[in-house]
Amino acid sequence: MLSARERLIVALDVPTPAEATTLVDRLAGLAGMFKVGSQLFTAGGPDLVRALVARGEKVFLDLKYHDIPNTVAAAVSAACRLGVSLVDVHALGGKAMMEAAVGAMPAMGTRLLAVTVLTSHDAASLGEVGVGGDVADAVRRLALLAHAAEVDGVVASPQEVALIREACGADLLVVTPGIRPAQSRLADQARAATPAAALKAGADMLVVGRPVIEAPDPAAAARAVLREMDGGA
Ligand code: C5P
Repeated sequence: MLSARERLIVALDVPTPAEATTLVDRLAGLAGMFKVGSQLFTAGGPDLVRALVARGEKVFLDLKYHDIPNTVAAAVSAACRLGVSLVDVHALGGKAMMEAAVGAMPAMGTRLLAVTVLTSHDAASLGEVGVGGDVADAVRRLALLAHAAEVDGVVASPQEVALIREACGADLLVVTPGIRPAQSRLADQARAATPAAALKAGADMLVVGRPVIEAPDPAAAARAVLREMDGGA
């Protein structure tokens, strides 16, 4: 059984490595993992990831690769060599692409996730890019495809965790962004849930960004999320 801390991934969505380092210092011991996404990786590069790993932090490299299978396999392989704990691809890249990524994974150390449908999408915005039907159907389809490609887990909105569990079983790791503590702003997350609700639905790990990193006191905000995860909110 993982602790609340081990289940909490804080998204370091800040513009510079210096700001990321300050946040990691302030959140010492409060998060099981830190997520480095496109913004920070583009600014700080692999050196920042290596520095976080060197100081003993677990890193989720969230670059959501979506390219031809050969390119994605090579990118995933490079990510694994950085020593990250989690790396992800877009399930929309297709089964062959996900299988190529799975084939590039080392026997242990790093786990591969596939993003189903971004938590900022709703049915209307999905329809605009040609994905018809409702969001739940698209998530189920993509989760089944990812499972068939033998990825370790998926990234999905808290609202779709239950249907993913039903379709794919208990052994698939489910990581959910779009977490909003009780009383916080939704910003651009269309399909959000509270930490307790996401865990109750069956999520393994929660990604929390702005509610923690934009708080006046990020450590206090992280502690509040941990309390909510423990059901003490
Ligand atoms: O600030 P907030 O808590 O909304 O941050 C959510 C984080 O999770 C962002 O870094 C975003 O890139 C990421 N994410 C997401 N939806 C996905 C996958 C990742 O919001 N499907």
